Amino acid sequence: MARISIVGLGRVGLATGVAFAKLGHEVACYEVDASKVDAVRGGRSPYREKILGEELRKVLKKGNFRATDNAGDALVGSECYFICVGTPPLDDGSMDTRFMTDASKGVGRAIKGRKDFPVITVKSTVVPGTTEKLVAPMLAKESGLSHDAFGLCMNPEFLREGTALEDTLKPDRIIIGSNEKRPGDVLEQVYSRFESVKWRCDIKTAEMVKYATNSFLATKVTFANEIANVCASFGLDSDKVLEGIGLDSRINPKFLVPGAGFGGPCLPKDMKAIISASKSLGYKPLLLEAVLEFNERQAARVVDMLERELSSLDGKRIALLGLAFKAETDDVRDSRALPIIHELLRRGATIVAHDPAATIAAFGTDLAVKQVSGIRDALENVDGCIIQTSWREYKELDKEDFAMMKHQIIVDGRRTLDGKKLPKGVIYRRIG
Ligand SMILES: NC(=O)c1ccc[n+]([C@@H]2O[C@H](COP(=O)([O-])OP(=O)(O)OC[C@H]3O[C@@H](n4cnc5c(N)ncnc54)[C@H](O)[C@@H]3O)[C@@H](O)[C@H]2O)c1
Repeated sequence: MARISIVGLGRVGLATGVAFAKLGHEVACYEVDASKVDAVRGGRSPYREKILGEELRKVLKKGNFRATDNAGDALVGSECYFICVGTPPLDDGSMDTRFMTDASKGVGRAIKGRKDFPVITVKSTVVPGTTEKLVAPMLAKESGLSHDAFGLCMNPEFLREGTALEDTLKPDRIIIGSNEKRPGDVLEQVYSRFESVKWRCDIKTAEMVKYATNSFLATKVTFANEIANVCASFGLDSDKVLEGIGLDSRINPKFLVPGAGFGGPCLPKDMKAIISASKSLGYKPLLLEAVLEFNERQAARVVDMLERELSSLDGKRIALLGLAFKAETDDVRDSRALPIIHELLRRGATIVAHDPAATIAAFGTDLAVKQVSGIRDALENVDGCIIQTSWREYKELDKEDFAMMKHQIIVDGRRTLDGKKLPKGVIYRRIG
């Protein structure tokens, strides 16, 4: 079993650390945010996750998992390091490398003078070239070691929020990117108790596999939206059409669900970063740009549908159900709720929002939106309603809930309700 250090206790770092500890490794986590360290030490996951908190408590009890904001304590003496810090976008869409730089410096200082070949793995999503051009030189500079005195790997993460630990423990594949055999072998050994297929490649390929995966998923969602919009023009039921194509084993039904578009902390950010990096190298990725642009328009289409029912949104009171980018998370990063809010406000509507977990404050910008804690408080006396997140609570909306509305008009951006089962009098519209 290996001594492992994790840098950054976001969802990725925490799920990775708990997974390794669960499988018997000795794990020390370094996180700069003391409040997260306190939560994790106290056995509380800072993230809304299914089993992460429970499994965290087990490994804390077992004694082979710890978290600290003391770099020396967490980083000195480990055999393997996993860099799991954030790679958010800058204003121009390119990747902000600030956290990667700091994390690499921290690990570099911790491995100073080492003669036993520590292996450093980048798990964060980074544009091709980052591990070799930014991380490796920083490690060498801060440690004083030559490049062949430490190992370097890239191991992208594919977990989904809400099931972070489940996905980390049973990924579809474990991508092991290394330019030399030795560090790749060390990483494969660390993962030896994972049943998933281990797939080896070079570092830059591993970095790109992550972007290509997210670009494909974003494109697939957008394709479903495009087909749904076309079906609507033909008066066709797009669900039936998409079901028909999803039966093709080359296509499969996953991610073929039309709606208000994709959001969250990964797909939009990663698309922007790879488009920006690609353009800086002289290639304009037309398809990927179109996917992003289409996605922005799709949010406006939801508002258009409501406007059509009400003739105008000016002065209208609208309920927005769902702020999180998807159900079972409180994460609002790049949630489609934000462009929908902007569109509604621009067209003169007032908004009453509801979400079982996410808050309007989490958008970090001043929005003229009232958030209420009860679904009926949100629906009371409104001219219409948009469902943006398919929370279970919204699937259970009933006659009494709709009776709170002044006009019973629902635009469902997430296929949350079954239009055929709604009470008489409810006008139900959805994408496609
Ligand atoms: N969240 C996801 O669903 C997901 C899925 C797959 C891949 N990823 C990628 O993995 C990476 C991490 O994602 P996340 O959601 O866990 O990120 P996050 O931003 O939520 O968490 C990163 C953590 O690292 C800490 N940190 C920053 N600099 C540090 C430093 N120098 N030393 C120690 N700690 C430091 C931050 O305080 C933060 O708690 C990103 O590149 C992301 O794109 C995320």
